[in-house]
Amino acid sequence: MSHAMPYTVHEGEFVSVPGRSLPIATPESSRIGSPSLVTSLPKLLHKWHQPHSVLSVAAAPSRKLLFCGTQDSRILVYDTVTFQLKCELLVENASILCLDISDDEQLLFSAGSDSLVKVWDIDSLEVRYIIYSLADIGDIFSIKWCGQSSTIYIGAQNASLLWTQLPLGKIGAAGCHSMVDKLPNYRYDKFFDSKGPGGSFNVLQSKQFLQRKNSSGKKCPALVEVDHQIRFAHNGYIYCMEFHDNKLITCGGDGLVNVWDPKTMKRVTSLENNESILSMSISGSYLYVGLSDSTINVWDLSTQQQIRKMSFESEEVSSLAVYEDSLFKGSSEGLVMLSTNSYSPAATVLNLSNHNSVLTVEIFHDDSRTYLVSGGSTTCLWDITLMTRVPVQFQEGLTNDHMLKSLEFMVSCKTVSKFPELYLEESRKCARYLSKLLARLGAYQTKLLPVANGNPIVHSCFKASADVKDPPRVIWYGHYDVVDVANDWETDPYEMVSKDGCIYGRGISDNKGPVLAAIYAVAELASEGKLECDVVFLIEGEEESGSIGFQEVITKNKDNIGPIDWVMLSNSYWLDDEIPCLNYGLRGIINASVTVKSLKPDRHSGVDGGVSREPTMDLIQVLSQLVDPSTQKINIPEFYDSILPLTDKEMQLYTKIEQSGIVDQKLDTLFAKWRNPSLTVHNIQVSGPNNNTVIPQSATAMVSIRIVPSQELEEIKRNFEALLCKQFDALKSENSFSVDIYYTAEPWLGDPFNHVYQVLGEKIELHWGTKPLFIREGGSIPSIRFLEKCFGAPAAQIPCGQSSDNAHLKNEKLRLINLFKLRSILKDTFSELKRNP
Ligand code: BES
Repeated sequence: MSHAMPYTVHEGEFVSVPGRSLPIATPESSRIGSPSLVTSLPKLLHKWHQPHSVLSVAAAPSRKLLFCGTQDSRILVYDTVTFQLKCELLVENASILCLDISDDEQLLFSAGSDSLVKVWDIDSLEVRYIIYSLADIGDIFSIKWCGQSSTIYIGAQNASLLWTQLPLGKIGAAGCHSMVDKLPNYRYDKFFDSKGPGGSFNVLQSKQFLQRKNSSGKKCPALVEVDHQIRFAHNGYIYCMEFHDNKLITCGGDGLVNVWDPKTMKRVTSLENNESILSMSISGSYLYVGLSDSTINVWDLSTQQQIRKMSFESEEVSSLAVYEDSLFKGSSEGLVMLSTNSYSPAATVLNLSNHNSVLTVEIFHDDSRTYLVSGGSTTCLWDITLMTRVPVQFQEGLTNDHMLKSLEFMVSCKTVSKFPELYLEESRKCARYLSKLLARLGAYQTKLLPVANGNPIVHSCFKASADVKDPPRVIWYGHYDVVDVANDWETDPYEMVSKDGCIYGRGISDNKGPVLAAIYAVAELASEGKLECDVVFLIEGEEESGSIGFQEVITKNKDNIGPIDWVMLSNSYWLDDEIPCLNYGLRGIINASVTVKSLKPDRHSGVDGGVSREPTMDLIQVLSQLVDPSTQKINIPEFYDSILPLTDKEMQLYTKIEQSGIVDQKLDTLFAKWRNPSLTVHNIQVSGPNNNTVIPQSATAMVSIRIVPSQELEEIKRNFEALLCKQFDALKSENSFSVDIYYTAEPWLGDPFNHVYQVLGEKIELHWGTKPLFIREGGSIPSIRFLEKCFGAPAAQIPCGQSSDNAHLKNEKLRLINLFKLRSILKDTFSELKRNP
């Protein structure tokens, strides 16, 4: 269902976006560091008025030529410097529905309602070839030229996709002939060409006859018969086509996006949309399709997921072009520009064409400028050069400076997984960047694994050096998503700032910095031929939201990932700012929302107060029963029974912490944080306007329980829900009650005495000059215990940053030396690690 809202725009005026179909959340961050929508507005360079509508455009930028195909059989050729009409190319009786130009700007292709493709020599502006099909294909709506294979692809009204190779440079050679009678116009037509009453020809027939006679005297272009076709490539007109990533993409009136392998012309994928697709544009890995019901769907071609739907209350989207962060949408209501950045405080719309109908838009570049051309009842040429963002620079080297440049880019991506409606594109941008980076740094297999309703997982693998027999295989786990920021930072959280030996930015410590340290360590070893193990990177984008979809996707890809010896990660912090640590335990989590709701609406407490039980009070009473008031113990039955006792071996590790002289770390506090469970009520939200004259209709509390080894997650979940329901039932309230557990994580306890901890410990001592403390943590990482169980491989965690890093909080930072040393420690570790015995 679309949530379209009406909007009005006037030339040059910004208005807040109307019909986003997804709700726009308003976290604090939407006010911070959001780049303004448009760095500079498109500048109108020229406007041409034509007697007939322009239906198609194509540019030859190095020749400074613009070709506009019209409804009345002309191709208007404009000079883009003087804006003069240089000439008109005439096509007999056909609307020019599509144009294309070869990359070398030697050939212009035109096609339309005469079922023919004409190939023009741009030097002489003469037709060199006429391409035709013997079948009745109807109008040609789309054409695409592939210079590499000299093949022209044709999308037709009769739903067929046709293609043929042009015998370029060999006019008159095989494939070409001059039997004009074979062209659709001149073929025998049962209706038009049969004799009329009395055996005479009708007027139309005599006209055709005349034309035939006239044209016979002209220099005749070579005729090429189409020799390949897929008859029902779509179940509707093929309105548009593009090449992307060596694949041909066609869009049709049947709402399908079909992806074809041009080598075999087999359909690789098909993506479904609810309405006919009239227009398309590809930017990065995103495919934007304009539909007949005035919506635009956005697909991520790298994961083949629909990621967004934009609805507008206006006409069908007849043309579409995307450039940088701006989307240009042409319809009978004009050309509007809007932001593809949904996190912009108010996404904006700018009407560029004063309500003139816009049927085609194209973007092209010359040496110095980027242009947008829009065609319809008028043709406009815009300069959009200043809207260009600095392109992503891949750092080809492996130095720490290169690593910092990569980190700077990752930090600039607002990968807040909690608000997909705002940051989904940013997260995918980061995932794509990471996978490209991994590929450039030498990973042999890099893929984005799609996650249903979530950000994709970056999956990539570095192979051990060829001389290593039966190498150990390691999963390096990390995440590129971050938590949202509040308005309390000293600098822009999404701009990496280097200050006093530290770098600042959201996600720098948790977990973008450590992920890059691992990638660069492995890549460097691989480049030196010293990598002793296979390292599989699994970098997810949903950790901060409970790792939605991770388990399902990894289970599905388990065979592809292969056997694993060790799971490693760096997603926690030291105990203080001085002593390096190794982490061998995390708590698990059960995160729930608890709601009490009345059948009655929000009411005035003066008018209705005292009449009935209030949801907020019911909720507070239920919550108050969760913990014993005197002992502070959690009241879930048998809750503490399975907690592991402290062994002598583990106690020795605690004694070392005590002896290290870290102040403020009393053992009881550490036990409470690491070895014992806890329960937190995070907030209580009420319905209504939140003022103190209202009885809210409903109240919801966010509650979480951190659990520890070896508490059974499923059992505690059940007992927790049962306890809440029992306490509510005891109230005998007329209100309703519900519990929603929306994510969980199992606790994890590693073996701090195994081989991988031993190697990590030695390398820490080597690089930091001191032995690490072995610590546990109170936080949770849902995927760790899962990966251990899934691959039967023990996990080990090496914290990167200091306790003062302020992860999840304001001014998150990472000390540079911690980042660099983690890289060196991991490099040494991966050159020595053995298989799990
Ligand atoms: N890096 C933390 C986990 C962590 C926190 C480790 C504190 C050590 C100490 C991670 O990014 C995180 O915050 N995880 C969430 C998981 C939850 C959303 C399932 C957590 O612990 O709340």
